[in-house]
Amino acid sequence: MSALPLRTPLCDLLGCRYPVVQTAMGWVAGPELVAATTNAGGFGFLAGATIAAERIEADILRVKQLTGDAPFGLNFHMFQPNAQQLLDLAVKHKIRAVSYGRGPDKKVIRRLRDAGIVCMPTVGALKHAQKAIEMGANVITIQGGEGGGHTGSVPTTVLLPQVVDAVKVPVVAAGGFYDGRGLVAALAFGAQGIAMGTRFLMTRDSGVPEVTLQRYLDVRDADRIRVSPVVDGMPQRMIDNEYLAMLEKAAPLRRVWIALQSALQWKAQTGMTTRHALGVLWQALREDPATVAQTVMAANAPVLLQRSMVEGKPAEGVMSSGQVAALIGELKSCREVIDGIVTQAGERLSALSALSALSSSTATQESNS
Ligand SMILES: Cc1cc2nc3c(=O)[nH]c(=O)nc-3n(C[C@H](O)[C@H](O)[C@H](O)COP(=O)(O)O)c2cc1C
Repeated sequence: MSALPLRTPLCDLLGCRYPVVQTAMGWVAGPELVAATTNAGGFGFLAGATIAAERIEADILRVKQLTGDAPFGLNFHMFQPNAQQLLDLAVKHKIRAVSYGRGPDKKVIRRLRDAGIVCMPTVGALKHAQKAIEMGANVITIQGGEGGGHTGSVPTTVLLPQVVDAVKVPVVAAGGFYDGRGLVAALAFGAQGIAMGTRFLMTRDSGVPEVTLQRYLDVRDADRIRVSPVVDGMPQRMIDNEYLAMLEKAAPLRRVWIALQSALQWKAQTGMTTRHALGVLWQALREDPATVAQTVMAANAPVLLQRSMVEGKPAEGVMSSGQVAALIGELKSCREVIDGIVTQAGERLSALSALSALSSSTATQESNS
């Protein structure tokens, strides 16, 4: 399969064949999915925020083993208790790129950049892109509001040109992509590639239990994949299910109870010390007291996602998803997804150049007549 027409400088920066990125997804983007993406010519990010501290290095080595040491990425959040461990591992194992949201400071980013690591945060607003670049990021992934998980309100078609016009670093487009038409459209907007979460979740390589994947396949109406702040206080796009409806109707006390249970479970799972938990809370209080409720609820997102993505109990948890799930009717392998995107993108590009040849020959005929 020819890669040439689709090759962008991003491919050289990330060391992949096609400008197609599999984003980090908590509990979903494990070594198998990352390796399947990478082996198919894309670039996969390991979801470091939901991998147990004692397993993370083994998972990094597993990707290396499954891919024959091909480049891949690591996602982390600065507020996770083992953030420092992930940063050290990224440097130790010469991870090609890291992705993050609200981010590390200049010193941390300088350390990563000095180690040759591409710093590639995901942002949902122009001002966040500008701030991230000021802090040292050298690639920006924009995520339009239609994207899955935590998301902003500006759609991809507005955010992408806005950021492309305002920044000098390569921009990758996320939020709503699943096929070759989307890749060509993103490149036409000036992006250097696309990044997809939901499309890769809905593959046979994601390891998500069948009963949960069936819920994704059953959604045919994009309106049923909606944004709610009820899980952790921040807007998050999810499939509308019985658990989300319950959370939205629940009395405040019940919500506090659920958040506390999640916090305790998450504390035990991550080995977070009480001191670290109190430190995070104290920092939230000092920086912005309005975010204290969010800090208490923060564990809801990984714990409730785990129920659907790992335990196979989609009715008892949340299902983060982009609206694009409504357009995806079948599970494929990562290779089929990427090959399909590349083939369709090539077809669209040929159709567009045939169209432009036709219109220029019509214009010549008209000017000669
Ligand atoms: C199930 C799920 C889990 C996610 N978890 C994370 C995460 O842990 N860290 C992160 O930065 N983004 C996370 N996201 C957001 C994705 O990385 C990605 O930016 C988004 O899915 C792109 O939009 P799309 O789904 O329309 O492709 C998650 C998305 C989904 C669907």
